[in-house]
Amino acid sequence: MEQQLTVLQQKAQAELGAIRTRPELEAAKARYVGPNGELTALMKQMGAVPKEQRPAMGKLINESKVRIVAELDLALARVAEAEIAAQVGPSIDVTLPSPDRGPGTLHPLTQVREEMCRILRKVGFAVADGPEVETEYYCFDALNTPADHPARDAQDTFYLPATADFGNISKRTPGERYLLRTHTSSVQIRTMLKGSPPIRIVSPGRVYRRDTTDATHSANFHQLECLYVDRNVTVRDLKALLDYIFTSLLGKDTKTRFRPHYFGYTEPSFEVDLSARHLPKVNKEWIEIGGCGMVDPVVFDGVGYDSKVWTGYAFGMGLERLAMLLYGIDDIRTFYQNDLRFLKQFA
Ligand code: DAH
Repeated sequence: MEQQLTVLQQKAQAELGAIRTRPELEAAKARYVGPNGELTALMKQMGAVPKEQRPAMGKLINESKVRIVAELDLALARVAEAEIAAQVGPSIDVTLPSPDRGPGTLHPLTQVREEMCRILRKVGFAVADGPEVETEYYCFDALNTPADHPARDAQDTFYLPATADFGNISKRTPGERYLLRTHTSSVQIRTMLKGSPPIRIVSPGRVYRRDTTDATHSANFHQLECLYVDRNVTVRDLKALLDYIFTSLLGKDTKTRFRPHYFGYTEPSFEVDLSARHLPKVNKEWIEIGGCGMVDPVVFDGVGYDSKVWTGYAFGMGLERLAMLLYGIDDIRTFYQNDLRFLKQFA
């Protein structure tokens, strides 16, 4: 029996040392110390051992069991460690420099905005800024857009709850509501109230409308607004400036045309179309790009400028529209999805 124990012990040591997986471990455990295991079988033979040899034999068996169980424990530790390592994957050196992704690129809207500002700065326009949260006064009233005008409908404009409080944006009248500006024309009023004529500003920025998103609409888009106030400003000056802007941006052969329109804050008012060699990209001969006109005297009076002395023009246009035309993009949604495959094309 002593010899059997020694053989079993050696076999166990060799086998248990080679265990790599949990099923192997469970099988080995059953084979040696399970109810039908080899060591258990030897223990059952104790009854046949002569009485005087039993204590010594029992001791030997126990020692074997302790050793085998210790080997099983070691094997379990090895298996568990291998399992965790497999889950975690290969070890990484967090101090290594990350793979070089190369420099980023400016968003196409940023590029068009910057280019337009550069073109306008060249002829004396300064960049002006205004808040995206506005009050009804700056967005509508001061722009001669009365309370019953459809643009002010809650269907078209995002109004903020009456309880909303924007300490840094002061209301002109206690009853007026806060809203998300529907156009950058509000910056005209802020600029005129802050400064004094002559004025020449360009103001690009984000605007909001309750539009359902599709290939040509987005509830949030960008406009670029210009305001020029001086003595003796005429429609000719307005047309000349628009021609200058669009030929600078889109090439010498670009044409602009005016169509009569109505805006509360300009008189006369026009919609501006343009035709450029880029247009085949979007399959059209003319596209509408924005609105413009001569500042309505009512607006001047409202901000305290003498409308007998001061004249001016203003216009606003969609930046997405321009970028779509310039780059031949046919879906406005691509601007906001931040898909690198799209963005990388505007390096
Ligand atoms: N605010 C107008 C719009 O969002 C565009 C516009 C029209 C701006 C006439 C102007 C203007 O400055 O004079 O559709």
